[in-house]
Amino acid sequence: MVTILVGGQWGDEGKGKIIDLLSEKADMVIRSQGGNNAGHTVVNAGQEFRFHLIPSGILYPTTTCVIGNGVVLDPRVLLEEMRQVQSRGISIDRLVISDRAHLIMPWHPILDKLEEEQRGDDRLGTTWRGIGPAYADKVRRIGFRAGDLLKPRFLQKKLGFVLNKIKNPILQELYHVPPLEPQAVLDEYTAYGEQLGPFIKDIFPIVHQALAGNEQILLEGAQGSMLDLDFGTYPYVTSSSPTAGGALTGSGISPTAVDLTMGVFKAYTTRVGYGPMPTELTDSLGEQMRKIGVEYGTTTGRPRRVGWFDGVVARYSVALNGIRSIALTKLDVLDEFDPIRICTGYISKGELQSYPMSNISHLKHCEPVYETLPGWRSSTAGIRRPEDLPKAARRYIDRLSELCGAPIDIVSVGAARDQTIWMQGGQTGLAVRQREHEPSHP
Ligand code: GDP
Ligand code: IMO
Ligand code: MG
Repeated sequence: MVTILVGGQWGDEGKGKIIDLLSEKADMVIRSQGGNNAGHTVVNAGQEFRFHLIPSGILYPTTTCVIGNGVVLDPRVLLEEMRQVQSRGISIDRLVISDRAHLIMPWHPILDKLEEEQRGDDRLGTTWRGIGPAYADKVRRIGFRAGDLLKPRFLQKKLGFVLNKIKNPILQELYHVPPLEPQAVLDEYTAYGEQLGPFIKDIFPIVHQALAGNEQILLEGAQGSMLDLDFGTYPYVTSSSPTAGGALTGSGISPTAVDLTMGVFKAYTTRVGYGPMPTELTDSLGEQMRKIGVEYGTTTGRPRRVGWFDGVVARYSVALNGIRSIALTKLDVLDEFDPIRICTGYISKGELQSYPMSNISHLKHCEPVYETLPGWRSSTAGIRRPEDLPKAARRYIDRLSELCGAPIDIVSVGAARDQTIWMQGGQTGLAVRQREHEPSHP
């Protein structure tokens, strides 16, 4: 049974909380794209965990957690995260790292920052984690893979070539910064190899054995569909594919093995970094929303841009990913807002658009069309059953579901695991939905 979970907006939808929730029934959780640009928060028994690379299923003692081939991995950051998790009494014995996952090398964050500085006013607002440069090297076929850490002689030879012939000339001649010393990088990465060695494996047989055993596999998306390299607001995107398609190529699972794609949407919209965001609120209402929602980046601490729920983006994400089930998060943040607005379309060049336009200049200048719903002006944080939701909140949820064209199965009303409302038939309802879409496994 394979469930893909994707972010439906611009990231930070609350994927970590939902993955943790669904992991209770998962045998395996796989991260398949992105790197430590991601920050997934899980709140469990009053303790907060922020995962950047380790799959959010790690809190369950029997779940295998896989870092897939599509991830770009900073070994220094991963080792630090492993240490932190262990220091809180959590075992990392079930962690597996694909030997095909590409590595973030020391020059990647340096170049990420230098390229951003060079862009000046046109900068993208990246996380400076080296994500774009690492994926670019993968595509250029000069990338280093996790498996290379286990081959010191190969690593040495390749480092000599890549650093001396490609990266150091760029650093020195283009950016006038000091070069990197191949031997120092070799020593550093050889030490990482020694520590990570036991975890680095070819994940293909492991994942396919789990599939053959009909185990519950959960694919943990990072980022969000609007940050997709192809379908997001290019160039204001990340350098991977955070869609259902990317989840498959990033893990080695075939499309016919997928039972359900679930989308996580925040009850409003947020975005970190630059690029168009049609429903952005730059006034005091936006300030209030940022404050109540504590909208500051999990990875970089930057204030997130906030705005009303964008039904155009949501409809697009549902279609792009084949989303058949929705988890709606942070409904509680809207408790005091009245009225509440929902964007149902964009007017661009005098025409009504029902999907985000590929031309980002049109997207930047479009006029969102809003529909207004009454707020509920009461706290939803303690609600656990759909029938206890205020009528206006129920109406808001139903309208979002209608606009998205997919059922909302989970409503989250707080960061904690139990602050969750299972809609339409509860957890059993979700399992039925998974079975409804169950393909015949070969
Ligand atoms: P992710 O990147 O999609 O995993 O999301 P982040 O962890 O970056 O950001 C989501 C933030 O919202 C985290 O601080 C969560 O603890 C918090 N959160 C998740 N669900 C809810 C919710 O329903 N209500 C509130 N108030 N906070 C939530
Ligand atoms: P999670 O998994 C929100 C954004 C950055 C920037 C753009 C490109 O926590 O939802 P990058 O460093 O990837 O080259 O930056 O993408 N971005 C995210 N925004 N949540 C994320 O991850 C993000 N990962 C990248 O802010 O605008
Ligand atoms: Mg995040």
